[in-house]
Amino acid sequence: MEKRYAKISSAGRFLPERRLTNFDMEKMVDTNNQWILERTGIRERRILDKGLGNSYMAIRAAREALERANVDASEVDAIIVGTVTPDMFFPATACLVQKGIGASRAWGFDLSAGCAGFVFSLTTGAQFIESGRYDRVLVIGSDVMSSIIDYEDRNTCVLFGDAAGAVLLEPCEEPGYGIIDYIQRIDGVGEDYLHMKAGGSRKPASVETVKNKEHYVYQEGRQVFKYAVSEMADVAVEIMKKHNLTGDDLALFIPHQANIRIIEACARRMKLDPSKVIINIDKYANTTAATIPLCIYEAMVEKNQLKKGDNVVISAFGAGFCWGSVLIKWI
Ligand code: ACO
Repeated sequence: MEKRYAKISSAGRFLPERRLTNFDMEKMVDTNNQWILERTGIRERRILDKGLGNSYMAIRAAREALERANVDASEVDAIIVGTVTPDMFFPATACLVQKGIGASRAWGFDLSAGCAGFVFSLTTGAQFIESGRYDRVLVIGSDVMSSIIDYEDRNTCVLFGDAAGAVLLEPCEEPGYGIIDYIQRIDGVGEDYLHMKAGGSRKPASVETVKNKEHYVYQEGRQVFKYAVSEMADVAVEIMKKHNLTGDDLALFIPHQANIRIIEACARRMKLDPSKVIINIDKYANTTAATIPLCIYEAMVEKNQLKKGDNVVISAFGAGFCWGSVLIKWI
């Protein structure tokens, strides 16, 4: 029997309306537009209104993906939400999305893999389709980074934004197309360089942890940068080599949007023409699990950039460390 592959049949997104520009940030911390733009590529980021949680965005992105596919929520089999900023520890954001969109017969769960959250969710969802068990899986990447950022810390506050992106996975009708392959890795060495100090079971929230600002993103940027630059490119090049693809054979590279310098270094290693690289970090900053589905939305819906047979490589790197690459033959 022919192997069944999953394809991305639709996409949706949610972007909060409120924009926080580099010039706004100049008034908040000791920074300036030029430093942020040159060191990161970011011009502005979106911020979700206080009181609205992750599921508010995830539900809206999911609804758009379903509407575009003309699929009713009751037809969804499973919902996977990649996130590090759920509405609450439990229940899972996937449950809140299930209720919000009315996916009456779906099951699902949240997946925590930092900025690789969407990639790990995508490949997990794809395997549910490949196995033949399910026909419609919603994969969402959604993060309210503003809820875990210290807006007095210039090292981290300029880097992140809020957004959600969703894709619908369905079986691919033609063999040899869809989500063809992936390579994924984790390395707990990353804990030292990128984590949240308190709020989990090792160090529950207390007056002390709040006073010490331990519920925010802690990042040693330079260390993370070093790992990100080599590992994200390594897995992208590895998957290309495995499938005998050169930079010329790729139609599009969709990188995680953490830093323009990481993206450009990856593209150089892959010997890619810059026109084949999606970059939108200038508009949205690092939205953690949402960066990749926002890029897919841009290519698929906004720019209608993808055609049948296009080779697309996705690559992401984030907290954990967690990282991975995906090869898609577009259909
Ligand atoms: N404005 C002005 N100056 C700043 C700012 C700022 N916003 N932030 C830092 N600086 C200063 C530093 O204090 C430092 O000053 P010093 O030399 O006097 O000490 C100087 O700029 C250089 O600091 P670096 O940290 O070396 O700057 P770098 O060029 O490495 O850029 C950055 C920092 C943007 C964080 C970069 O290291 C990076 O992108 N790291 C990787 C991030 C990443 O990929 N994260 C993974 C995903 S996140 C997740 O999974 C949740």
